[in-house]
Amino acid sequence: MNNPQLNKDGKLQHLLTTEGLPAPILLKILDTAESFVGVTQRDIKKVPLLRGKSIFNLFFEPSTRTRTTFEIAAKRLSADVVNLNIAASSQSKGETMLDTVNNLSAMNADMFIVRHSQSGAAHLIARHVRPEIHVINAGDGRHAHPTQALLDMFTIRRYKHDFHNLRVAIVGDILHSRVARSQIHALTTLGVPEVRVISPKTLLPTKVERLGVHVYHDMEQGLKGVDVVLMLRLQNERMLGARLPSAEEYFKYYGLTQEKLALAKHDAIVMHPGPMNRGIEIDSAVADGKQSVILPQVTFGIAVRMAVMTILAGN
Ligand code: CP
Repeated sequence: MNNPQLNKDGKLQHLLTTEGLPAPILLKILDTAESFVGVTQRDIKKVPLLRGKSIFNLFFEPSTRTRTTFEIAAKRLSADVVNLNIAASSQSKGETMLDTVNNLSAMNADMFIVRHSQSGAAHLIARHVRPEIHVINAGDGRHAHPTQALLDMFTIRRYKHDFHNLRVAIVGDILHSRVARSQIHALTTLGVPEVRVISPKTLLPTKVERLGVHVYHDMEQGLKGVDVVLMLRLQNERMLGARLPSAEEYFKYYGLTQEKLALAKHDAIVMHPGPMNRGIEIDSAVADGKQSVILPQVTFGIAVRMAVMTILAGN
């Protein structure tokens, strides 16, 4: 099938989704990110790989981690970064998203990093821009969040070393989660033999098994013997109507506590993309506990985003 992210030579032109990305490309991103971890730990955290390039952060939806780590990553690569303040931009006067993109392209943009509440927004921009401009999807609706999934894969590989002997559980609101979709595609492509999703029926997409996952509705059953627990945020802003009796009941059945985590392997790691709802999907004792690698995920996100931008720019 034609993959809109790849050019005619099979190289990455845009990063829009992990779906359909071949394992060698995913591994190239992870391996390149390894080389940038050292840069992010130096006194002078800069390399000149993207010197002279103009990168535009277009965040039409709120973000703390993704927007900031893309900005830091671009600056560490010596690029010029512009964070468009959407609320203060001409979008508020009725300018369309593509007209905004046209105007920024006329300022010689080299790369757009796009977050939008509408699924498909980054794809639309990627189809619209000149061929020399690259687009990175920083999260679109409930569709995809590829750099989050890649930094999650990087974190898993750092702590567990090999994808081929792992049991991974993704817990929570799968239905509304772009992160879960991108994680499932990346985990299965990288050869994880058992990916579980644990969720109430009301928060699961229909026919989710077709993505190659095993479905559990009981957290105690689903967590047994897993190596990695990927928690998800309840995406209240994307829910149409009530899908849960109450936050308290959700926490009782699907919140990650120390007692439930004890059912996983003793050395299991706990991850969360953030922002976290403490006491709703995860207990503070777990979020801040010794098995949590939630903050290392954020740190690794810088190296992974440096890798993606460098590869797209052809370095
Ligand atoms: N994980 C994530 O996308 O967080 P932000 O919404 O803060 O970018």
